[in-house]
Amino acid sequence: MSVVSAFPRAEAEFFLADAAAIKEVTSSRYRFPKPVHHYGLLLYFGSNIVASDGEEWKRFRKIAAPAFSDRNNRLVWDETSLIMLDLFDNVWGDKNEIVIDHCVDITLQIALSVIGVAGFGRKVSWRDDQVIPIGRRMTFKEALHIVSTDMGLRILVPEWAMGLTQRLRKIRIAFEDFEKYMVDLIQDRKTSEKQEQRYDLFSGFLDANDDEDLSEAKLSMKELFGNIFIFLLAGHETTAHTLCFTFALLALYPNEQDALFQHIKQVLPEDRLPTYDEMPLFTYSMAVFYETLRMFPPVPNIPKISSQDTILKTGNAAGEMKSIAIPKGTVVRLDVPGLHFNSRYWEDPHAFKPSRFLKDWPRDAFVPFSAGARACLGRKFFETEGIAILTMLVSRYKIEVKEEPQFAAETFEERKARILAGKIAITQTPIRVPLVFKKR
Ligand code: HEM
Repeated sequence: MSVVSAFPRAEAEFFLADAAAIKEVTSSRYRFPKPVHHYGLLLYFGSNIVASDGEEWKRFRKIAAPAFSDRNNRLVWDETSLIMLDLFDNVWGDKNEIVIDHCVDITLQIALSVIGVAGFGRKVSWRDDQVIPIGRRMTFKEALHIVSTDMGLRILVPEWAMGLTQRLRKIRIAFEDFEKYMVDLIQDRKTSEKQEQRYDLFSGFLDANDDEDLSEAKLSMKELFGNIFIFLLAGHETTAHTLCFTFALLALYPNEQDALFQHIKQVLPEDRLPTYDEMPLFTYSMAVFYETLRMFPPVPNIPKISSQDTILKTGNAAGEMKSIAIPKGTVVRLDVPGLHFNSRYWEDPHAFKPSRFLKDWPRDAFVPFSAGARACLGRKFFETEGIAILTMLVSRYKIEVKEEPQFAAETFEERKARILAGKIAITQTPIRVPLVFKKR
């Protein structure tokens, strides 16, 4: 599909939902680079791995990539298990039913705790993280949430006007507090590093920022802040929303939830915690995530730009191949739902069927993490924490939709549309997912 703007200076755009064309675009980093000018809002705290390209991006990727190793995925698994146990033992306790008005409130906290501790060594108990520390006016979670959602306003509104309304004042406080939280993270790590040697993301960043370090992959202070912010953001938003849609789908489809539970019990019949080495055995849990990501990709369109006049080959609905001329400077968007619901690749694409991922499936028609050199660096990180969370939760609790009297008369289709409704903010965001977790 192509879109041509009526405004003279606007860019023409193409939306791609063809697997072969998407593969060609994502594997040609020089022909189709990232249009970094579309990512300006993410630069407030400094340049970073998501909003850069070329040599600068390579430098950031070289510094960050070693932290996404198998050794650290083990850390992600172990820390995630501790966070979930803290939630079960110290927050949910012996309650038989936990009613949550919006599931994202839980999943955001889980995902932020995991990236905090496994990425940055920020170990805070569930309860302590709900408390505003001395010298701050909001919690870490709230500050990061406001900073990421209201970045545009903070950039557009001049400093003198930031005190004019209550909302703007709150945004200003969030930015001030968030910077202080980032400074705390740096200070805490610098003073504790000698006692506990870690090889996580933060170690890589701080080493590169260290003045005495003469490696070529150096990081300025501004870039350090830019990257801390982007990893906190990229590392929790997408994950939290995916977990929330996953729980919502399992609540709506109890047969699927039961099949998942049976599979978990088959892999792990004893009453003990699953280990990182057992992760590949939880194939059904992974299939549930992939099916959720197919239907609710957190980043629904991923922009690229053509750096030259070029030609793209793409198939049409009738299966014929067409050559499309793409002029230099054209924005080409990967239309992720367009691909994920394309019946040329997926049978019955609107049905929730995790089992489709248990047999051979069309790998090139699945791009929730993008693809090629600019694909998500945190994919394995997410998969690791996700499997740990899902297996631990589903083996202990049954997930149901909260019954509310005002919706008593709705049909299944109406309920599905209500529970799965989303909006596009920074990423695809569930609007309101009221759930009940019942002890098994
Ligand atoms: C469900 C979970 C996730 C999904 C669906 C997801 C999706 C994506 C997508 C689509 C991109 C490409 C964005 C673009 O081209 O503008 C991306 C990039 C990135 N993601 Fe993720 N992400 C997830 C989790 C994570 C986690 C947990 C982390 C970190 C711990 C992370 C770190 C990154 C980074 C650093 C990049 C930029 C990579 C580069 O350009 O070199 N992501 N992600």
